Amino acid sequence: MRAMTLEDVDAVFAIEQAVQAYPWTRGNFADALNNDYFCRVDEAGGRIRGYAVLMPVVDEAELLNIGVAANQQRMGLGRAMLLEMLDVAREKNIRRIFLEVRASNAAALALYRSAGFVDIGLRRGYYKNAGGGEDAITMACDLTEGIDGQA
Ligand SMILES: CC(C)(COP(=O)(O)OP(=O)(O)OC[C@H]1O[C@@H](n2cnc3c(N)ncnc32)[C@H](O)[C@@H]1OP(=O)(O)O)[C@@H](O)C(=O)NCCC(=O)NCCS
Repeated sequence: MRAMTLEDVDAVFAIEQAVQAYPWTRGNFADALNNDYFCRVDEAGGRIRGYAVLMPVVDEAELLNIGVAANQQRMGLGRAMLLEMLDVAREKNIRRIFLEVRASNAAALALYRSAGFVDIGLRRGYYKNAGGGEDAITMACDLTEGIDGQA
């Protein structure tokens, strides 16, 4: 993975539109870059295959977005990107990462749980869907485990 740049936004947005039910706009990605969020892409053979965006707030962070191109899914890329984002966060002394995920997004839920995220709450009707609201599951990952207490 490498840092995302403004030149990557079109390619990232193309994936986002294809894989997300309620995609971010190009402007959302540009804003994330301009605000110095941790934005990374996975690139192979000159093609972007996936991306992730983490918003740091003092010593905590929120995982705002992660996506893998449809034809690259289920090959371990999402997990590799997520684990790399956790490493990036640790390097920046982030202690805890939060995220919200649609209750219906079984793939993302399984991915996050497999990477050490635990459920910490439920926000009813958090996401606006065509048919009404959809619940969000709030999750957190403690990055200090195994660090605190070490000399
Ligand atoms: C969620 C997403 C990033 C996962 O990326 P991926 O590269 O396909 O995931 P991986 O191959 O690394 O799989 C990691 C784990 O996630 C889970 N998972 C991934 N796809 C799944 C699916 N279709 N159904 C159930 N579990 C799934 C599994 O637990 C998997 O582990 P396993 O293969 O050992 O069983 C990808 O499905 C995606 O881009 N979805 C659309 C965007 C999205 O929903 N993003 C999250 C909210 S912002």
